[in-house]
Amino acid sequence: MKPHLPVMLEECLEFFKGQHIKVFFDGTLGAAGHAEAILKDHPEIETYIGCDQDETALDIAKDVLKPWGNKVKFVHGNFSNLDEHLKALNIDSVDGFFLT
Ligand SMILES: C[S@@+](CC[C@H](N)C(=O)[O-])C[C@H]1O[C@@H](n2cnc3c(N)ncnc32)[C@H](O)[C@@H]1O
Repeated sequence: MKPHLPVMLEECLEFFKGQHIKVFFDGTLGAAGHAEAILKDHPEIETYIGCDQDETALDIAKDVLKPWGNKVKFVHGNFSNLDEHLKALNIDSVDGFFLT
C-alpha cells in the first residue's frame, strides 16, 4: 500500500509557525500525517483534538500518534459538530484548526 502524503504540508506548517498553540482541532485527522507534523513542530500543544468520521482512519491515526499519548483526544464524528465535540471534552475554545 502506498503511504498517504499529507497535502500542502509545508504550507500548513508555515501558517502556524511562531504561534503558541495550546489547543488544536484537526477536523479531518485521516492517517494523521498533518497531525504528526504539527505535534512535532509545536511541542507546547497541550491538547490535540483529532476528529474523523471514518473509524478505520481513526485506528490508523491512533497508531501513528501513540508517541503523544493522552495529549491527543480522538473524536469519531463529523467536524461540523465541532461545538458538541468541544463541549464533550470540556474545552471552550481552540487556538488553531484545519480541515485538510
Ligand atoms: C485526505 S484525508 C485527511 C488526511 C490527513 N490530514 C492526513 O494527514 O493524513 C480526509 C479525511 O477526512 C475525513 N472526513 C471527510 N469529511 C469529514 C467530515 N465532515 N467530518 C469528519 N471527517 C471527515 C475522511 O474520513 C478522511 O479520513
